[in-house]
Order: sequence, then C-alpha cells, then structure tokens
Amino acid sequence: MKDRGRRIFRVIALLIGIGILGSAAFLFWPAPAAPSIAAPPASAALVARGRYIATAADCVACHTVEGGQEYAGGRAFKLPFGTIYAPNITPDRDTGIGAWTDGQFVRAVRQGIGEHGEDLYPAFTYTSYAGMQVEDVVALKAYLMTLPAVRAKAPSNTLAFPFNQRRLMRFWKLLFLPRPGWKDDPGQPPEWNRGHYLITALGHCGECHTPRNLAYGMKSGSFLAGETMAGWTAWNITPSRGRGIGSWSEDDIVRYLRSGYAPGHAVAGGPMKEAVDYSLSKLSERDLRAMAVYLRSIKAKEHGPSLEDQGAALRGSGFTRPASLAGPADGRRIFEGACASCHGWNGQGQQSPVAALVGRRSVLDPEATNVIQTVLHGGSVRTEHGRAFMPGFAEAYSDAEIAAVSNYVVSHFGGQTGKATPKRVAEARRQ
Ligand code: HEC
Ligand code: HEC
Ligand code: HEC
Repeated sequence: MKDRGRRIFRVIALLIGIGILGSAAFLFWPAPAAPSIAAPPASAALVARGRYIATAADCVACHTVEGGQEYAGGRAFKLPFGTIYAPNITPDRDTGIGAWTDGQFVRAVRQGIGEHGEDLYPAFTYTSYAGMQVEDVVALKAYLMTLPAVRAKAPSNTLAFPFNQRRLMRFWKLLFLPRPGWKDDPGQPPEWNRGHYLITALGHCGECHTPRNLAYGMKSGSFLAGETMAGWTAWNITPSRGRGIGSWSEDDIVRYLRSGYAPGHAVAGGPMKEAVDYSLSKLSERDLRAMAVYLRSIKAKEHGPSLEDQGAALRGSGFTRPASLAGPADGRRIFEGACASCHGWNGQGQQSPVAALVGRRSVLDPEATNVIQTVLHGGSVRTEHGRAFMPGFAEAYSDAEIAAVSNYVVSHFGGQTGKATPKRVAEARRQ
C-alpha cells in the first residue's frame, strides 16, 4: 500500500515538473517568425483598397486621441488593472511603423505580436483581425505608408504585476486566439460570405457585442448575444425577436449602420456612434447590405432585456404623467422638469419621433447602463429632418439625481426596478 502511494506521488511530482518546464519553455520560446511576403507593386489601386479596409476595420478610432493627428496613437484604454495606450501607427520610423516589414505588420494584426516578437494585449482587437486576409492587411499597410509620418510616442502602459508581463498573454492566446486566416463557406452565396467577413473579421462587432468569460475570452457559443464593457452595453444583435434585432427589416439594419438611426428601433450612442461615424457610414451600400444579410442569418440567442415586456410596462404606467410627485431629488420630478418636454410621458417623443423611448432597449435594462451614459453625455443624430439633439446633464445634476432619474426612466418606460446608484454614476463619469 505504502509503496503504491509513493509511486503515485512520484508520478504526480514528475507530471508537475513536466508541466512547469513545459510552461516555461512555452513562455520563453521565440515568437513565430514574421511571414515573408512578396510585396505587391505599390499602386493607387492598392492604396485605395487599403484605405477602404482601414475604414471597415476602424483602425483610426483606437489609434487617435480626440482632436489629435489621425493614427498617431495615445488613446487610453482603462482596464481594472491599469491603462494601455494605443501606439502610433503612422510611417514615422522611430515612433511609428515606418521601419516595419509587411510580414511584421501582418503578424501584429493577425497574431498580436509586436515588432520585436513581444506579445500584444487583446485591447488591440487582433482576436477578430486574425480572420483578415493577408492581401487586405498588406493593402492596409500600403495605405498607412501614404499618411504623414507623425513623431509621437504614446505614454507607457501602467499595468500592475502580473499583467505587465506580456509573455503571459501566450497562455491567453493559446485559449482564445483563433488560427489566422479566412475561408469562405462554399455552401453560402457570395453576399453572405462578404457579410460574414465584414462582421467577424473587419468590423470586429463581436469584440463589443459578444459576451466574455472570466478570462476576457469571447464566448464562442454566444456570438453577438450582448455584453457590457467600458460603461456601455452593446445589445444582443442576433435575430431574437424580443431580445435581439429579429424584428428589424434588412433596410432597418442597413439604415442604422449607415446613419446611426433606425426609426422605431434605435439611435446609436457612445462607442456605437463612433463605429458609425468613423467606419460604417463610409462603407458601400452593397457591403452594408451584405452585413445585414449575414446578421439576419445567424443563430438567435435569448439573452438580455426583452422588448416584449415593454408594451405591458407602458400600459401599466397609464402612458401619462403620474398624479403624485414626491421629494426634490426624486426621479419623477427631474423627468417632469428636464426630460418630459422632449420625450413625453407616453414614450413617443414630443416634437420628434427620434426622441421616442418606446422600442429602445436601454429603457428595459434594469442596470440602466446606457441610460446613465445618455443622461450624462446627451446624444445627437442626423436624420433627413435635420439634427436631433439631447443635451448632457453631467454638469446640471448630482450623481444621486442622475441615478434617480435613470431609475425613474427604466421604471416608467420599461417596468423595471432600476439599479442605478450614485456610485455607478460617479464611475460612469470617469469612463
Ligand atoms: C479597440 C481598439 C483598437 C483597434 C480597433 C485597433 N487597434 Fe491597434 N492597438 C490597440 C492597442 C491598445 C494597442 C497596444 C497593445 C499593446 O500595447 O499590447 C495596439 C497595437 C497595434 C499595433 C502594434 C504597434 C506597436 O508599436 O507595437 C499595430 C501595428 C496596430 N495596433 C495596428 C492596428 C490596425 C492596422 C488596426 C485596424 C485593422 C488596429 N490596430 C485597430 C488598439 C486598437
Ligand atoms: C466599440 C464597441 C462596439 C463595436 C465594435 C460595435 N458595436 Fe454595435 N453597439 C455598441 C453599443 C455600446 C451599442 C448600444 C448603443 C446605444 O444604444 O446607444 C451598440 C448597438 C448596436 C446596434 C443596435 C441594437 C439595438 O437593439 O439598439 C446594432 C444593430 C449594432 N450595434 C450593430 C453592430 C455591428 C453590425 C457592428 C460591427 C460592424 C457593431 N455593432 C460593432 C458597441 C459596439
Ligand atoms: C432637447 C430634447 C431632449 C431632452 C431635454 C432630453 N432628451 Fe433624452 N433624447 C433626446 C433625443 C433626440 C434622443 C435620441 C438621441 C440619442 O439617443 O442619442 C434622446 C435619447 C434618450 C434616451 C435613449 C438612450 C439610449 O441609448 O437608448 C434616454 C434614456 C433619454 N433620452 C433620457 C432622457 C432623460 C432622462 C432626460 C432628462 C434628464 C432627457 N432624455 C432629456 C432628446 C432629449
């Protein structure tokens, strides 16, 4: 018996030893070499293609600070354990990518590996770009090389140990980074395949819309089922009728992607407005339609707040101004004074249907995440009837008042018990 115990112990010790050595070898093994790529002849057509790819992949949004030079980097990404800054990707040889080979660039975009083989953090959305075709990445670099070289060094990352150890990303990549490359599905028409490529690889929609696990990996079985990140909720955009965009027509989706407004459904705010402004509004009608076709074909997921609950909630509220108005900081009083003139009590929008809250997912979310953001920062959208505008109330109201009015909105228009708190509003102000 004792002998057997000792033998088992030895086997386990050996396995642990192999595990430790194997992990160390894995961590310190040289990075995969950058592929050698026969550079295509530089031409206006190549640069034009690269510019379109850069737009569809929205590289500019992250690699530019507000009011700064395009692609010169410096934008901060605040994570729970520190801040990461997007680097300069203009052709400057010292501070940008001017000295990079095509192979190094392809390796960075599809495998998250830097110039000298260092592992990059997935705040750079290479998990989606892994699907990009090599020719597209090479064209994209040719375009970047035509931009003015800007001398600018992004601030150094401020990550806490152990997150500042780039090598640890290797374990993460082993689990969550798809193999680089793209294959069309021969059983599907070209339009569907184009939409698939635009949504998953270039548009990286899943980076915001797909739920993540505890290790920050995208849950593959829940593609586009909705997730909350950096203070905003990116809704379920699968074809579920109640919880996703299953009740939107193909035209509704195309219109939303092009303009940020789908009448009766949604207005884009926050990070989605950025995606529309920088990227989606500049894509061809044909590509937007391909994206809509693909989105309508994926598997519906029943995740997130349901629109089917809204009718009952609004009937319950009587569509009207409630008879009694309590205390000074009460959400109802704030709504009456500051919001009802535009939104009305029935949620149809007073002067303009753009301000309708019926059909909006944000008011059905008990967390009131996007409601808080919109009350703080306001919003705006251009429609064929001109610009519709909501002012921000960050200066006008305290955290407690904004929490109160947000909870009131999800209660009156969504029948939800809101979970906004002054603490969450204070956090949202910092995001
Ligand atoms: C969601 C934000 C985001 C998007 C979108 C994005 N990047 Fe980045 N990118 C980053 C961040 C953050 C880093 C720094 C990562 C790190 O320090 O590990 C980075 C790093 C890089 C690097 C490495 C540069 C260096 O000096 O090491 C390259 C190259 C790059 N990005 C190119 C691109 C291209 C090309 C696109 C579009 C196809 C793109 N990025 C889109 C955030 C983004
Ligand atoms: C940087 C994060 C981010 C990316 C990338 C992103 N979205 Fe969004 N999306 C959001 C957020 C946040 C919202 C909610 C905005 C709001 O309601 O004001 C949203 C809302 C939407 C909506 C409206 C849903 C509804 O029910 O109101 C659609 C449709 C949508 N996104 C499609 C896409 C598609 C298609 C892509 C890829 C091309 C994409 N998004 C990429 C963050 C993102
Ligand atoms: C001047 C008119 C105006 C006023 C005042 C106004 N809004 Fe808005 N609101 C709009 C318009 C227009 C939109 C649609 C644009 C958008 O969503 O960005 C909107 C959108 C919203 C949304 C939807 C956000 C989303 O992402 O789904 C909410 C919630 C909201 N307002 C709440 C409020 C509250 C609460 C107040 C008062 C504190 C208020 N609004 C004051 C015009 C107004």
